[in-house]
Amino acid sequence: MNSRRRYIIITACVLLLLIALAFGINTIREKKAEESAPEYVFLYAENQIADYPTTHGANRFAELVYERTDGRIKILVKPDAELGSEMQVIQQMQYGGIAFARISLSQLAEYIPEMNVLQMPYLYSGPEHMWRVLDGEIGDEFLLKTRDHDLVGLSWYDAGARNFYSTSPITCLEDIKGMNIRVQESDMMADMVSALGANPSKIVYSEVYSAIEQGLVDGAENNWPSYEAMRHYIVARYYTIDEHTRVPELQICSKAVWDKLSESDQKIIEECARESAQYERMLWEEREKSSREVAEKSGITVIELSPEEKLRFRDAMQSVYTKYCRDQMDILQAIMEY
Ligand code: GCU
Repeated sequence: MNSRRRYIIITACVLLLLIALAFGINTIREKKAEESAPEYVFLYAENQIADYPTTHGANRFAELVYERTDGRIKILVKPDAELGSEMQVIQQMQYGGIAFARISLSQLAEYIPEMNVLQMPYLYSGPEHMWRVLDGEIGDEFLLKTRDHDLVGLSWYDAGARNFYSTSPITCLEDIKGMNIRVQESDMMADMVSALGANPSKIVYSEVYSAIEQGLVDGAENNWPSYEAMRHYIVARYYTIDEHTRVPELQICSKAVWDKLSESDQKIIEECARESAQYERMLWEEREKSSREVAEKSGITVIELSPEEKLRFRDAMQSVYTKYCRDQMDILQAIMEY
């Protein structure tokens, strides 16, 4: 073989080698891309701001699911009610348009009326009592009930206790009589406020600030973190601690979406939801304190309802029990004794 031929053969071999290498690298890259492209991308609706315990819980949930499914399931958390109000989100979930959400039980009870029993006024002696109920068989049964309504309840999130806040002080039952009070889009909440002699106004969460500012309502009721995060404390300067209700919140999945998942993915999702709930509850405790501090530093007036007045509020709300728990006396009794 002359040297020219040898040169041509060697060059051809090198070229072939280079082509083969490039092809191999591309195939690896494609394979990797294929591997890392998620099989499912789901939306998660949250109506609180990005820096809020429930939103952080949602992010934790999404991270855990992504990790434990090796990137096969990606959940995009959309805070700030970007996907709609809670009522709109529930409707969309029933058709599978939105896969996941964190929803206040008050709103869910509009679709699943039996849920109301878990948010009755002055029902729980404190947070420990509520968590005993929700973390026990009763809580599990209520998560299961959602399945008859095209949803799947995954876990319970904390939302503390709700209190009244207003543009003029509420120190006794007489003060709240005749006031216009914003309530969630919930019949039970409206009846509760009517029972106190006030006029309920159902207004979507994102509109509460402007409703108070414009004088459409004289006040509202919610927990410390919502009062602070939504800046309601800027416009309603009196916060009356009466803890009239504890409204837990739920992480839910659309049943239409759930049924498409394998059993092992369902199991992972349930586990991650429960773990994220533990995380949210921890953040909740801290945020309740820091939100109160922010509001107090701004100079609001905090009113502690006296035990006698609290009893009067409680007695006034008895009619709500008669209306909403008539057919659930056994379960009500069980919750009270739990
Ligand atoms: C709480 C709850 C929200 C709900 C709001 C309301 O802040 O976390 O999900 O929308 O109450 O009063 O509407």
